Amino acid sequence: MIIKACLFDLDGVLVDTAHFHYLAWKHLADKLGFQFTPVDNERLKGVSRMDSLKILLEIGNITLTEQEKTRYADEKNQLYLQYIQRMTPEDILPGVLEFLDELKSSGILLGIGSASKNAPTILERIGLTSLFDVIVDGSLITHAKPHPEVFALGAKLLHINSGHCVVFEDAIAGVQAAHNAGMKCVGVGSLDILKDADLVIPGFKNLKLKDIIL
Ligand code: G6P
Ligand code: MG
Repeated sequence: MIIKACLFDLDGVLVDTAHFHYLAWKHLADKLGFQFTPVDNERLKGVSRMDSLKILLEIGNITLTEQEKTRYADEKNQLYLQYIQRMTPEDILPGVLEFLDELKSSGILLGIGSASKNAPTILERIGLTSLFDVIVDGSLITHAKPHPEVFALGAKLLHINSGHCVVFEDAIAGVQAAHNAGMKCVGVGSLDILKDADLVIPGFKNLKLKDIIL
């Protein structure tokens, strides 16, 4: 395929915020008195804040009122904000900057496709905002991954046909969203979890554009 645009998920792809999300959700689980493991957490990756809470409560077999749900989701977000407010450009994962630079100098457009409403704050903290030609975050979409909206909107704003876009994702729901948008997907993480991706890489360290064979 001819790659004209690359759309990157943010959490767990460019930065390790997936871990911060996990810690913040685990805090709630501890408080509500049930176990929440990294394996359970895979189900929450790429999923919106309220949908994540729904899954978390399902795991703990807990029923809350709408008001309580809003309160717990806010509490989780406050804790998460404490983690991300301490982020700096040093938190960009190894090899990411080099890879993005190579894409840019090859004339490939760059986009962010994240379900997070906190994506703009993180991009500012790590100094990457201006590198991207388009940023689609949780505040611009109504349907969470695996719905294709976040990537379809990114491609639309870049004026690039989905057949020329590649998505980079660490979440199962994100890989499905890319495919639902008619895009190829590079899974970032482990092959066991991301088996539906078209190619799986462990991370961006030493990655070159020529390695992305789709
Ligand atoms: C990303 C993360 C999810 C998170 C979602 C919403 O997709 O992978 O774990 O729940 O964003 O994030 P927010 O920052 O808006 O709560
Ligand atoms: Mg992610």
